[in-house]
Amino acid sequence: MADVDDLKDTKNYHLDVPVKPAAFFLKGAGALDWGMQNRLARVFSPASGRTVMLAIDHGYFQGPTAGLERVDVNIVPLLPYATALMCTRGILRTTVSPTFTNGVVLRASGGPSILKELSNEQLAVDIEDAARLNVAAMAVQVFVGGEFETQSVHNMTRLVDLGLRAGIPTLGVTAVGKNMTRDARYFRLATRICAELGAHFVKTYYVDEGFETVTASCPVPIVMAGGKKLPELDALTMAYRAISEGAAGVDMGRNIFQCEAPVAMIQAVGAVVHQLMKPEQAYDLYQTLRHEQPRSGRRVAV
Ligand code: R5P
Repeated sequence: MADVDDLKDTKNYHLDVPVKPAAFFLKGAGALDWGMQNRLARVFSPASGRTVMLAIDHGYFQGPTAGLERVDVNIVPLLPYATALMCTRGILRTTVSPTFTNGVVLRASGGPSILKELSNEQLAVDIEDAARLNVAAMAVQVFVGGEFETQSVHNMTRLVDLGLRAGIPTLGVTAVGKNMTRDARYFRLATRICAELGAHFVKTYYVDEGFETVTASCPVPIVMAGGKKLPELDALTMAYRAISEGAAGVDMGRNIFQCEAPVAMIQAVGAVVHQLMKPEQAYDLYQTLRHEQPRSGRRVAV
């Protein structure tokens, strides 16, 4: 306890300095509690207001995806460049150093593998374990229009309720079934449902027509999903357009870790997302960096 024998008189109240009301930097997050905002500030950079989230959670339903066969070899060298990491608790505990202090977005739903109906998910993590892992957010798949639509929406609302008690935000991930149309109308519907029912940010795919209406009509930040591997310039262009049209960042997996030079690519994506670098310039940066860096490095401390 502090020594109370020699207390000095208080005197400097800075009466001429008004207290600044603190506005939080993320859309829709102004009314959240301190812990929620603090966690969101680990997912989104307070400097840019955006995120480069590295998605490596694919194994939760499809096993060792190309590029993720050895997360320790292929992914750990990318971590210093990721604003946040989206992964399962299995990979987090086994392969990611606890010295990694950027945001972790924990995959919190699962169940079916690629051999079964994917929308038949349930919650797959206890809120106590998410808190124990000190994650910055939890991610849950929402299959609007899917066979198990109601179940997946209910998964999300339960996770939101659990997360609100623990101060952990929820990411609603809009999942598109094989036969579903990927257009702005669908994504407006899916993202708005996620936000209305409590998701604190939403992941969705980019569409060439009307993506700005998806971001505009969603009252919480939208993070663009990466999707299947594209040529690097196309992926950088898609990221640039998404950011220009209102996305608060990207959550990219294969378009980073399936590149010839993932360490270079994640930095190029970072330049687009955080600095709004033009795609052609970011592609030049990718080319420059890829000649400086090996395809996958040795495990580095993060
Ligand atoms: C998508 O909804 C799942 O979470 C995936 O496992 C992953 O995040 C997809 O990443 P990408 O499509 O960028 O490879």
